[in-house]
Amino acid sequence: MAKKIRQPIVTVCGHVDHGKTSILDSLRSSCVQEGEAGGITQKISFTSYPMNKLKLACPLIENSGINLNIPGFLFIDTPGHAAFTNLRKRGGSLADLAVLVIDINEGIKPQTAEVIKILKLNKTPFVIALNKIDNISGWRKLDDNLQKSVESQPQNIKQIFNERYYTLIGSLNNHGFDADLFYNIKDFTKKIALVPCSAKTKEGISELIMMLCGLSQKYLVDKLTLGPKAKGVMLEIKKEKSINYIEAILYDGKLSKTNEIAIASFEEPIITKIRILEEIEPLCTKFKPVQKVQASTGLRMQLVSKEEILPGMPFVIYQKNKEEIKEIFKKEISKNIKTEKQGIIAKADSLGSLEALLILLKQNNIPVVKASIGNINKTDIISAKANLEINELDAVIVGFNVLINEDAKDSKKNIKVLTEEVIYKLIEELIDFRTEKRKEIEKKRLMGLTTLCKLKILHQYVFRNTKPAIFGVKVEGGKLVSGLKIIDNKGEKIGRIKNIQSENKSVEESTESMEVAISIPGTNFERQIKSMNFLYSDISESQFKNFKKNKDLLSQNEIKILQEIGEIKREKNTDWGFD
Ligand code: GTP
Ligand code: MG
Repeated sequence: MAKKIRQPIVTVCGHVDHGKTSILDSLRSSCVQEGEAGGITQKISFTSYPMNKLKLACPLIENSGINLNIPGFLFIDTPGHAAFTNLRKRGGSLADLAVLVIDINEGIKPQTAEVIKILKLNKTPFVIALNKIDNISGWRKLDDNLQKSVESQPQNIKQIFNERYYTLIGSLNNHGFDADLFYNIKDFTKKIALVPCSAKTKEGISELIMMLCGLSQKYLVDKLTLGPKAKGVMLEIKKEKSINYIEAILYDGKLSKTNEIAIASFEEPIITKIRILEEIEPLCTKFKPVQKVQASTGLRMQLVSKEEILPGMPFVIYQKNKEEIKEIFKKEISKNIKTEKQGIIAKADSLGSLEALLILLKQNNIPVVKASIGNINKTDIISAKANLEINELDAVIVGFNVLINEDAKDSKKNIKVLTEEVIYKLIEELIDFRTEKRKEIEKKRLMGLTTLCKLKILHQYVFRNTKPAIFGVKVEGGKLVSGLKIIDNKGEKIGRIKNIQSENKSVEESTESMEVAISIPGTNFERQIKSMNFLYSDISESQFKNFKKNKDLLSQNEIKILQEIGEIKREKNTDWGFD
């Protein structure tokens, strides 16, 4: 008996507004894009495209001579942010193929670049839909054959097309991909195919489908054999009145409404009956109730279990094999969600995006102590606060595609919380933060021994002449701390600062441009200080050398103060110098 083949799962991904939903709309009867809030896709949606319908819509398929035995495609529309591109299943990407949509007039945007990186990471074969060709001013569909239509455009229009096309080829090259127009490619294993198209006029859409058929037939058929066991991934979860409404993908096997399913979680698997099972209808975005489904397909379910289900979690049929399932899930989840004894806190909106985040953090040698799915909450803040005591570098929460809960917002003082929708931006921001923080910590250590400081004497504010002398100063630069030893601008020792007062209150320290009163026992203002304008912190030669060595931790102003102290000291000792 011939093996059963399932539909390839094709994700449609790319930068916001480049036309992902519109391309899918051009394939189906329902028009989703116009009904979307602000025309922006908020969540994943499916389109099932059976082969008989595809053949009707794309006569090219029949004429091409490709011997097709795939039953159709299951397309997944994704919101513009790339988190959703990393839809994962065990052993790799949920998507068998991808269509990367690029607006020809805009080229590669940040999210396009991110999608490319994720496709590369997951080794997902893809074609590029070079969309919105109709937006090139003067472009008209001049032939039913796309190649002829492109080549017959008037000279000036062809020139614009070529310029954009070559820029894109160059950018793709920088990302490590060799790409060409699909009709110029002989070996599709070596080059990425570009299909110029327009979701608006539908020009090129048949060719895009053709490419997907060709690629599937050539490279995927072995991978598409329908397995005996139902396997799927939970995508969107809505909980209303404690009922879980779920949209999911069944990517292998068959599932019946009477089956029990086991869903992975970070603890015990959740085992539940299915209350309602619905399947996506062909060529639209409606679901209909069914008794049975077969992969690949999009599902909507209501589950009996009230437990919290996390997006991205895998599920399988439960056949009283709890231990076996536990093992399967353990391999599937813990393999990628590993944490260390010490590190930062990572949050993401789904298992796939959390995995992607952890992979990138690991590549950058940033350890993670806690990783979970969902918005940033108070518990995360508490964990980060505990890190303040251990290692300030780890007092950070990174959130990929998640929000900060209100109660967490209130308590996040001293804790760095970074949230982003673009994963590579998030990593960059984190690296920047850690570099700065590291400098700050080193500087604190450096300054812990002594501090650099220059004070301007405020002669109009002398409160007491001696025992102790109390007078006003302005911090010209560096940091003033109590206990600091002070010299005058000739290098004479003045004494140790006992107390610092700001607005009649004692303070431990004061920083650049603050005006405060200081008290110094064992000095006499009239005799020792009155004729001076500035005072400096007294540092030893070895401290001076240490500051000099760590010059890059100092501000320009602090370097200047260090130079001045060096010059003062040099007057007394010829060894002192500053390069
Ligand atoms: P997100 O879901 O927000 O990431 O956007 P998207 O990539 O799904 O883009 P969408 O399909 O919502 O299209 C964005 C806008 O571009 C809409 O106004 C579409 O009408 C328009 N558009 C899409 N494709 C084409 C095209 O081929 N030609 C022209 N002229 N406009 C297009
Ligand atoms: Mg969309």
